[in-house]
Amino acid sequence: MKLIVTTKEDAAKQAAELYRALLRQKQNAVLGFATGSTPLALYTELIRAYQKGEISFQHAVSFNLDEYAGLDENHPQSYRAFMNKNLFSRIDIPMEHTHVPNGKDTSAEQMDAYEAMIRAAGGIDLQLLGIGQNGHIGFNEPGTPFDSTTHVVRLSQSTRNANARFFSSIDEVPKEAVSMGIKTVMNARAILLFAQGASKAKVVAAAVNGPVAEKVPASILQLHPDVTLYLDPEAAKYL
Ligand code: PGA
Repeated sequence: MKLIVTTKEDAAKQAAELYRALLRQKQNAVLGFATGSTPLALYTELIRAYQKGEISFQHAVSFNLDEYAGLDENHPQSYRAFMNKNLFSRIDIPMEHTHVPNGKDTSAEQMDAYEAMIRAAGGIDLQLLGIGQNGHIGFNEPGTPFDSTTHVVRLSQSTRNANARFFSSIDEVPKEAVSMGIKTVMNARAILLFAQGASKAKVVAAAVNGPVAEKVPASILQLHPDVTLYLDPEAAKYL
């Protein structure tokens, strides 16, 4: 694991440079995107680079990690709506090249279909991740088997509490989601994980230095050959 401790703004700039280099080398790169607060600074940098003509996503393909179950893609808190608003509508990626799991159809066929689309696109070149306070990656909560592929997950109470800030009440936070599995994430050729703030410090230390164990989903990343962690000093304070 490569660890880079820097400010949130500098991490976003450095990571945007990696996307620029990747897309220059491979115009049709397959990008794994994430939602949450953490990726927003990076998305702002990518939009800025696009506006300056430094980067183009015209031939890129994207797959998002997860989506709430039961939310229509037009629901303002759906992850599809988040991605459209914060990235896709502001860069030149064709909408039909963007994929977010379907929260309205949680059938086994849909789970397999998402995996099949990733495979058909050639696999993910660069997967972006945040980390939950409980160590989740995507919505893979503690205890998720390491060999899991795209699946329906029951959200933990801590995840629902953490995400309640986006809804008018905790009761409105969906109880389930669709998420790429741990194996799906581990199949990506390269992974970038961002963590910021003191609330992530303990779990970052467990993921980086603790045993590789399903109770800390992000600990599996120790076994991936190309992972870069961008941490701010607060998130890195127990390393
Ligand atoms: P955050 O979420 O970026 O909003 O902290 C990260 C996550 O839960 O994976």
